[in-house]
Formats: sequence, structure tokens, C-alpha cells
Amino acid sequence: MTTHLVNEFARDVRAGLNKKGQKELPSKYLYDEVGSALFEAICALPEYGLTRADERLVRCHAGELAERMASPVTVAELGSGNGRKTRLILEELSRRQPILYHPIDVSAAALRRCQTEMEHLDSVRVVGLQHSYLPGLREAVAGRPPDTHLLVLFLGSTIGNFERPAAQEFIREVRGTLRPGDGFLLSTDLEKSAQQLILAYDDPLGVTAAFNLNLLARINRELDADFKLSQFQHLARYHARERRIEMHLRSTIEQTITIGKADLTVPLRREETIWTESSHKFNPQEVIQLGERGGFRCEAQWMDEEWPFALTLFIAQ
Ligand code: AVI
Repeated sequence: MTTHLVNEFARDVRAGLNKKGQKELPSKYLYDEVGSALFEAICALPEYGLTRADERLVRCHAGELAERMASPVTVAELGSGNGRKTRLILEELSRRQPILYHPIDVSAAALRRCQTEMEHLDSVRVVGLQHSYLPGLREAVAGRPPDTHLLVLFLGSTIGNFERPAAQEFIREVRGTLRPGDGFLLSTDLEKSAQQLILAYDDPLGVTAAFNLNLLARINRELDADFKLSQFQHLARYHARERRIEMHLRSTIEQTITIGKADLTVPLRREETIWTESSHKFNPQEVIQLGERGGFRCEAQWMDEEWPFALTLFIAQ
């Protein structure tokens, strides 16, 4: 990481762990090299049906999606995505015309992987944009060929990791970068039983626990901290009123942590938790409303039966 990014990481860690009441760490830091590999493994777990549902929907409806999008199309993806899903969409779109594809990701390594994944696709030119979502999208918009329609992909239900008001604001901001007729394809995990969700976020193999605990290991590695991972436990809890799964790390003893590069000492009580991620769940109508309030109309919504999940195609009004 560059010094600038280390400083930002240190600042965010200090702010989150200094909070009065519930301590927090931002979920975006779960995805270093190790965290990203563990997340890939989570996606393959039998208990975590989300990624497979998303992929089934894309596989079934990519053809219809391509028909519904006015051509010609440039595709921008928020996050460099799971190559398999995106490839299915690009394959369909590029049957009709050459496609320019912009994966947008802060990680250069993720963009390189994405480039390799799409390399063999004829008629698809991949130009990665190393940015966070909205600045990347603005760059994609600024450079788009005249008279093309833009299709923005936001797959994997990553929108669920935003607080609900932030999700609404984000959709509005995405719309703000677009022109009427542009598309926005949004994946959202739907509500299901608490029991099913707990299993998905606290799998018996312990992969999600490792994914969560790696955040402390990362702080040790990058910010000179002394978290002892054996003194923390992964916790997944369903918050019924907020309709979300929360991941926490629970301190099993009273302890004090030192984080050198954040210039911080943190006391933790026995049983005190650090909140590391929220994963909000939706109902299909609510997803349509989110888009409509953001300035889109719903063109189509497809649902998976096996694992309640929605893929919604919006068109900018
Ligand atoms: C990336 N995101 C949509 C995942 C989710 O389900 O909220 C991250 C994740 N956290 C634990 N398991 C998977």
C-alpha cells in the first residue's frame, strides 16, 4: 500500500475503535489479498447461496438484458466483479456489436485479474479504471464514445453492505452521472429466514470466521498492531428490525490492544464486540422503489427461486 493509503487506513481504524459505545471497523478493509481469496472461498460454500443465485440469474437473462438495452453499449462495472457473471453479459452484448468494458476498482491487482479473465473475448475492449466507484464512473462517462448507451453493473449484492440511506444516496449519485436511456443492473440479496442467513454468515467450516478475523491480522501486518487472534471470536447476528446480518469480532477476555501506526491503545472489555460489516436484505418492491426514488424506471426484475435473490434492470429516466 502507498503511504497515503496506509495513513487513510490508520485514520479509519483510529476513528472506528475510538467510537464511544459500539466500536467499528469499515468493511472495505476486509478485502486485502488474503481477504479477497477467503471471500472467493465463501462464494463456493454450500451455505452461501448468494453468488450462485446471482450467476444463475445472469446466465438465464443475459440474452434478454442485451435485447432490452438500446445499442451501442459501453459497460462500466462497479468493482472488478466476478469474471464469470460479467463474462456472460459481455458475451451476449458483444454478439450484437463491439463493446468497451470498464471495470472500476481501487485494486490494481483485481483489475489485472479482470483483464486476463476477459482477454479472450473477441469484440470486447477492456479498459480498467483504478478508482473508487463514483470517480471511476465519472471517468467512464467522460470518455464514452458519443451516442453510446452506458450500462452500469453493480452485482453481488454489494449494495447490501451500505447503510440503507447511503444505498439510496449512492443510487441517486449513480443516476446523476448518467443520461436518459442508460442502464443500471443491480443485484440484491432478498430476505430469508434468520436461520438460513446465520448459516451463510457463520459457516461450519469457519471460512467466514477466517475472513472476518483476517481484518485484525491485516491491521497487525500493516499498522503494527498486536491483536491476538485467538482472543477474538467471529460472531454473525441477524438484526430483525434492520433486516440485516451483522458481523462482529468478540473479545473473549478483557485486554488492551496497541496499534503503532494509528498511534492508539484500545481497551476492550470481555464480550465487547467490534462491528465489521452489515449485509442488508431487501424485498423486491423495495428494490424497485430504491431505483425509482433515485431517478430510474424499472425495466425488468428477475428473481431466483432457489435462493431468494433479485436482479433488477433500471433505465435512467
Ligand atoms: C460482498 N458482500 C456482498 C458480501 C455479503 O454477503 O455481504 C460480503 C460477505 N461477508 C460475509 N460473507 C460475505
